[in-house]
Amino acid sequence: MSSWERGPCTDILEVILDEATIAARIEELGREISASFAGKNPLLLGILKGSFVFMTDLARAIDIPVEVDFMAVSSYGKSTKSSGVVRITKDLDRSIAGRHVLVVEDIVDSGRTLSYLIENLETRNPASVTICTLLDKAEARIADVEAQFVGFPCPNKFVVGYGLDFAERYRNLAYIGELKPEVYQS
Ligand code: PRP
Repeated sequence: MSSWERGPCTDILEVILDEATIAARIEELGREISASFAGKNPLLLGILKGSFVFMTDLARAIDIPVEVDFMAVSSYGKSTKSSGVVRITKDLDRSIAGRHVLVVEDIVDSGRTLSYLIENLETRNPASVTICTLLDKAEARIADVEAQFVGFPCPNKFVVGYGLDFAERYRNLAYIGELKPEVYQS
């Protein structure tokens, strides 16, 4: 069992990105996105659950009018995840026809989730679909997707925190850290 009851989380091998580093980069991303989407009233589309922390900080770093919506997706299981098929468990609340959509992700790993989602979103006739991800694990990429706005390149390690989980845990860590192998190998 973890000893993470009070005090620092002992399941973390190394802090990869601390709170201040993440906050500073999100301020920059907010400025870049505000300039890029000025006058376009973009829709920030958070992909649950992992993006929920990044979304709240990013939205507040953007100083142009935006709207916010969420989708939740889950893979059909390990074998079908490799085919890139994901199930939409919460769809958009409104039409995105004619809208500039900025998809907000915590991490792009193999790229399969986003590849499926973008294809799905394109069928709804948006004006544009742009991707913003906090972490880009380019080394793990299988599907051909590229984020236009990237917070940080991500090493090919098991990272958790700031929205990212292992077995639904660690999402509430304020930083991003590498999980100790014994935690996910046990
Ligand atoms: C994570 C992450 C992305 C996806 C990236 O979600 O939030 O949506 O995996 O992986 P990929 O590029 O290999 O498809 P996950 O399925 O773990 O669900 P969660 O957001 O609820 O944690």
